[in-house]
Amino acid sequence: MDTSLWIRPTRPADEAALTAMLARCSPDAVRRRFHGAVGASATAELRREANWSPTHRSWVAAARTVDRTTSDGPRGEVHAAVHAEVHGVITLAWGGSRTVGEVEVAFLVEDGWTRHGIGRALFGAAVLEAAREGVPALLARVEGSNDGARRFLRAVAPGATTRFVGAAEFEMDLPVRPAAALATGLERWEAIA
Ligand SMILES: CC(C)(COP(=O)(O)OP(=O)(O)OC[C@H]1O[C@@H](n2cnc3c(N)ncnc32)[C@H](O)[C@@H]1OP(=O)(O)O)[C@@H](O)C(=O)NCCC(=O)NCCS
Repeated sequence: MDTSLWIRPTRPADEAALTAMLARCSPDAVRRRFHGAVGASATAELRREANWSPTHRSWVAAARTVDRTTSDGPRGEVHAAVHAEVHGVITLAWGGSRTVGEVEVAFLVEDGWTRHGIGRALFGAAVLEAAREGVPALLARVEGSNDGARRFLRAVAPGATTRFVGAAEFEMDLPVRPAAALATGLERWEAIA
């Protein structure tokens, strides 16, 4: 079995793979990403993630696995089955319009694929896009109990600041530093691809 992983912008055909990824995620991970939104709200968000618009842009960590089997017959034919899945997604959402308001970042890496650098690589792609658009900082809304995400953001966004905004939620301001994203995110991604 041979798996390759890469980061790329989403496309409309990803909606089914994103839905399948969500079904494989733990209830905790889904709640942390969607802050309790379920059913139609979560489905609508997945559709937005798959379909780029000027105010909504997403990237996935896409995996392609080639499963080769050799038959026992005299000619030993090789059969290959190719499976495509996504294991993580990150989204930039411009509030209101492209020129007014904050730009929020939200992300989800599938349980079982965490701590392999996928989140960092996805964040790198989002930061490069934000830098291209002249966005100075991103906003992340993180559940009060979501210590893992706060540690993750402090690790991938040097200079991040955190404030408690009530209702058991933190907001984090994340400076957009493309050099840091290139040095620590996408290069490292090559290492695990
Ligand atoms: C937070 C999340 C995106 C991290 O993704 P990931 O692919 O595991 O992150 P990475 O492997 O790239 O981690 C990069 C660094 O962040 C830090 N980090 C990541 N997860 C961490 C955790 N649970 N606890 C402490 N530090 C963590 C580490 O410093 C890590 O580097 P290391 O593995 O070399 O020590 C993932 O756990 C997730 O999807 N959580 C559920 C969704 C969520 O919380 N979304 C936030 C609100 S939108």
